This record gives sequence, structure tokens and C-alpha cells, in this order.
Amino acid sequence: KKVLVLNGPNLGRLGSREPDVYGDTSYDDLVKRCERNGRELGFDVEVRQTDDEAELVGWLHSAADAATPVVLNPAAFTHYSYALRDACAQLTAPLIEVHISNPAARESFRHTSVVAGVATGTIAGFGMVSYDLALQALHDLHHR
Ligand code: DQA
Repeated sequence: KKVLVLNGPNLGRLGSREPDVYGDTSYDDLVKRCERNGRELGFDVEVRQTDDEAELVGWLHSAADAATPVVLNPAAFTHYSYALRDACAQLTAPLIEVHISNPAARESFRHTSVVAGVATGTIAGFGMVSYDLALQALHDLHHR
């Protein structure tokens, strides 16, 4: 079963980006981690990252058409992109919103997620483990 793990802007710089907030795991290590965890759960996981809102919206359209479950870290788009929210609303399989940090414990502009209301659920604040939990959640949703 195919699963997409989609990452928004600046997440390609994980490892060097604000390590005090996001940890020192690199983006490449995140990709390997998701692929390995996915394999153990019987998923064929494809991990992507873009800084481009249009590209991310396009990936969501394809996921909607193919009924592919999505794990999405919308990064800063979380807080203001209605285009991203509208694309998420079209998904036909579960959507898990993930965050590495806990946005609720940070600046007030991070307290709003325009994506949360169209997600199946949200996992935030567990570092890279947030992605592990999201894949586990998709697996459990699929088997209940
Ligand atoms: C983030 C939190 C967002 O507020 C921020 O803009 C990011 C990363 C997270 O994973 O903690 O880029 O989505």
C-alpha cells in the first residue's frame, strides 16, 4: 500500500536548520527513517519535500485522484495557506498532519493551523517520532 509523506518549505534543511528547535537529524535521515518504518508496517512510503506551494498543491491533487493516504508536514504553510487547505480537503484517503515541534508552545502565529480542520488528525511535538506515530496511525486506521 502506497503512502506519501509530504514536507513543506525549509524542511529540506533539517539537521542544520535551528537544531535547538528541530533537532539534528538530517532530511536524508528522515527520509530513510520513514521508508524503513513504512516497510515494517507494510507500506510503500515515498517521501518528498518542496519549498513551492504550487508543487505541494499538485502532489495533493494526485494523491486525491489516486486515493493515496498522506502524512503532511505543511511547515509554515500550516498557518496561512488556504490553497493548501483546499487541496487537503479534496483528499479521499486519510490525512495525518505532523509537526516536529509543538506549534502551540511557540509564537502565537503558529497557534493556528488552517490544515487541522481537514485532517483526520494531527501529531505534533515529538521530533522525528511525530512521523513514526503518523505512519502508525495510518496503519491502525487501515486495520480497524
Ligand atoms: C513545523 C512548525 C511550523 O510552525 C514551522 O513553520 C515549520 C516546521 C514543525 O514541523 O514543527 O517549518 O511544521
